[in-house]
Amino acid sequence: MCGIVGFVGHRQAAPILLEGLSKLEYRGYDSAGLAVRDGEKNAEVVKAKGRLSFLYDKTDGGKALVGSCGIGHTRWATHGEPSVTNAHPHVSGNCRASGSGEVESEVVGVHNGIIENYQELKDKLLKHGYRFYSQTDTEVVIKLVDYYYKKYRIGPIDAIAKTMVRVRGSYALELMFKDHPGEIWVARKDSPMIIGINDGESYIASDVPAILKYTRDVYYIGNLEFAKVVPGAVTFYNLDGDEVKKDTTHIEWDAESAEKAGYEHFMIKEIHEQPKAVKDTLSSIFQEDGIKISLPSSFLSSLSQIYIVACGSAWHVGLKAQYTIEDLCGVNVRVEMASEFRYRNLPLAKDSLVIIISQSGETADSLAALRKAKEKGVRTLAVVNVVGSSIAREADDTLYTLAGPEISVATTKAYSAQLVALDSFAIKLALAKGTITEEKAKELIDELFSIPAKIERILEDKGRIQWFASKFSNIHDAFFVGRGLDYAIAMEGSLKLKEVSYIHSEAYAAGELKHGTISLIDQGTLVIGILTQDDLYEKTISNLVECKSRGAYIMGLTSCGKYSTEDSADFSVYVPRIDQHFIGSLAVVPLQLLGYYMSVSRGLDVDKPRNLAKSVTVE
Ligand code: M6R
Repeated sequence: MCGIVGFVGHRQAAPILLEGLSKLEYRGYDSAGLAVRDGEKNAEVVKAKGRLSFLYDKTDGGKALVGSCGIGHTRWATHGEPSVTNAHPHVSGNCRASGSGEVESEVVGVHNGIIENYQELKDKLLKHGYRFYSQTDTEVVIKLVDYYYKKYRIGPIDAIAKTMVRVRGSYALELMFKDHPGEIWVARKDSPMIIGINDGESYIASDVPAILKYTRDVYYIGNLEFAKVVPGAVTFYNLDGDEVKKDTTHIEWDAESAEKAGYEHFMIKEIHEQPKAVKDTLSSIFQEDGIKISLPSSFLSSLSQIYIVACGSAWHVGLKAQYTIEDLCGVNVRVEMASEFRYRNLPLAKDSLVIIISQSGETADSLAALRKAKEKGVRTLAVVNVVGSSIAREADDTLYTLAGPEISVATTKAYSAQLVALDSFAIKLALAKGTITEEKAKELIDELFSIPAKIERILEDKGRIQWFASKFSNIHDAFFVGRGLDYAIAMEGSLKLKEVSYIHSEAYAAGELKHGTISLIDQGTLVIGILTQDDLYEKTISNLVECKSRGAYIMGLTSCGKYSTEDSADFSVYVPRIDQHFIGSLAVVPLQLLGYYMSVSRGLDVDKPRNLAKSVTVE
């Protein structure tokens, strides 16, 4: 969602801030702004609605804003429409009509997250003479800091601590105080923010790619902590205003992996990075001296129930893992959407495990679900891609996927890395439960390690999918159907198509179609059948024939050898053979390519689809 950057050092801040914001564009935004200070002078604020390039033009690439201390923001509207007035930074005084210019205000700031009690706070501030120029909750929190700062004539430490105690919701806040030049103050609750130090300068960001170019050693600000950032140093505080000592974490990701490297879009680049993401993830789990999943076998052997909780594509990974775990380990698995789980009073057995899957490790609903599980005293395992993220830090155990930075809003390589991480977990659990032998485990692990080369083979033949996509790019609807594990893959294929191509699409368990949805099948409707499971193949073929006889155009996606698919399908796609439990890792690739090429054929913004954000840090 929104992006935050900050810089305080010896160079001009604005070009660095703009560059940092450009690395966060993928998160989704509708307006952007900067506030920069030159020594003791007041902050200069510039904002623009729309693309970051407008802000770039307005500031001459940052050159027009002089000063070596500044903050920047890309906004994804929650409270108030996308506009210059509602764009951040916000100020404690009055904002000019243009939203830009030098500001007299005591406090200037930017904010990610949502202040839930903003109306109540606004009413309080109105009574104390404050006036509001925007519809945002952010302006309220900036003015609240100002109120405490002035009322008690206390310094930033107490003003920020008082504000943090008073506000409800989530925030990553960056603040500059008029009387404290050369300082940026930051505060955080449930919204990510990191600080990197290098060569006597300090960088702040809501997400790693924004500062990778400058440093890979970062501090994570803890929940309900705040900090003072000056050139080359940072001091952390807890809510009592006491100093907190911290160590840096080294980020392995390199700057190049967050660049397009000659590809037209991040999405296609990341589709091509899947063999590496899968291989790196598997290699980190299966090592010479054992399976590196920190849950002890004694715990796993007595496990009676697993809840997998996640959102979006990560939830689809859970749906697929459900089939594998139940089949290999004989353990019941429930897969829950985090947004539902967090508000349900689901009785959780004490000897159960809650697995939270999240690429970003910051998804608000998944984080809340994790906390709920912990409150109920159930052990939690996080499967996360971003090192040091909130979910990774708060879970009892963490299993990292090694997909590297994923920039495209539509997930591909992180999803594939999650699939094999969960497959690996299933093997460890099956061994602990004694439902498979060591020999069988070895066989399955070898099969898992064959995935990267098989994905390469599918990618070599991507031209066919590209051709198919260009032929069908004008369609209005598509249906993805499958049974069992294929149904879980159909869900992901359908989401990929709709999110990047804006084509309405639905995924159905093939056997469920005739209970209503088949009435939508008409002449030329595209129906994509996923048919990788030997025991369900004939059943799904029958469902596809039912669609075909009502005029549907059928694409069949199956494994090499099942050539009879061509008797029923108008267009067939084959993926290499592999153990049936793992074929989803291959079948999903042509579906990712289909979504991608449909989007390209329709001339859309593939990496930044409308209305979407990479990391959904609000409810
Ligand atoms: O960061 P997370 O894995 O927790 O994100 C969950 C979903 O928002 C995410 O998987 C989303 O559905 C994908 N970007 C879709 O491609």
